[in-house]
Amino acid sequence: MKTNKQQYRLSEPPSGRTLATLYEEIGGMHACRRLSERFHDLVADDLVLRAMFPKNLSVLTEHFALFLAETLGGPADYSAKRGKPRLLCRHAPFPIGPPEVERWLHHMFAALEDLGVADTLQQPLRDYFTQTAPTLSDPFISFYQMPLEPLRAALDKTRSLATAIYEGRTLLRDAAGRWDLPRVRLLLEYGALGSMPDALYRAANAHVHGRDDEGCAVVELLLQHGAEVNGRCGVGSMTPLHMAARRGTVAIAKVLITAGADIEARDTKGETPLRRAVNCGQEGVACLLLAHGADPLSQDRQGRTVQEIALKGRPNIGKIFSK
Ligand code: HEM
Repeated sequence: MKTNKQQYRLSEPPSGRTLATLYEEIGGMHACRRLSERFHDLVADDLVLRAMFPKNLSVLTEHFALFLAETLGGPADYSAKRGKPRLLCRHAPFPIGPPEVERWLHHMFAALEDLGVADTLQQPLRDYFTQTAPTLSDPFISFYQMPLEPLRAALDKTRSLATAIYEGRTLLRDAAGRWDLPRVRLLLEYGALGSMPDALYRAANAHVHGRDDEGCAVVELLLQHGAEVNGRCGVGSMTPLHMAARRGTVAIAKVLITAGADIEARDTKGETPLRRAVNCGQEGVACLLLAHGADPLSQDRQGRTVQEIALKGRPNIGKIFSK
């Protein structure tokens, strides 16, 4: 079986063992799965962490087990299934601060204990987790929830906060992603980079029930401050219109189209906003896109048209193509 012993090699841990040679010693895939299961059972009961994790933890539990196996020098199945680990990128959407890191480590260490992993093997694992977990936390986290006036005072004191970027995260990106209009306005007032594509992308990707008006106002404000309407972001290199199509926010899709969004833009999978709307069963946005001239016969990489996909696989949305 293909192994990946070199990929995540860390400096030699104090115990003299390297992380990337622990796989067999710890008990192979069976042990990695048991550790992941125990850890996620503990997470499931944690009131602080639970809301951040998906409702059904089984897929994540398997991914984490595969990741662990690969990191410890076992088969490279994680990379084969999920691509490069890119932990920073995968954790970026979550509000991870010092308390979350502490809880996470607490449960991981408890899981290691519960499974009776020998101390000599636990040490390199603990070292790895202790070094890695804090790097996934967000340095701006305390500012996200800060009320407006203290935030204004913090910006007066340290103006560069408005433009600070850490691993692609910014205060503006967070505020835009929560459709927090007053905060977006304040940050732009202090020179936050409205032109950075990520804020608009996050605003278009958000969905806050019953607050579409605020979402639209945030999108309009970002566009006024120079956000590129067709700016691409994320792993799939999607445009804001792709995101609004997936989320089904018709009002935001309208604002983007009025501002010149490319209706036939293709993401890295070669899919258009209309195809994304169909994939996600978003009838309202699909109707809007068709009304603005989106091509129902545009083909994906396999040569299938959007119309074909809708008629065959999406009965709820297929009806708008058969009219
Ligand atoms: C050493 C530290 C950590 C490692 C090695 C790690 C690793 C991973 C891996 C491999 C995944 C699965 C990614 C995939 O779907 O392919 C994952 C998901 C996740 N991790 Fe971590 N993680 C760490 C720390 C943390 C911390 C401190 C938190 C905060 C509580 C956290 C929260 C999450 C969440 C919420 C997901 C689910 C993502 C989703 O919904 O797809 N992780 N982590």
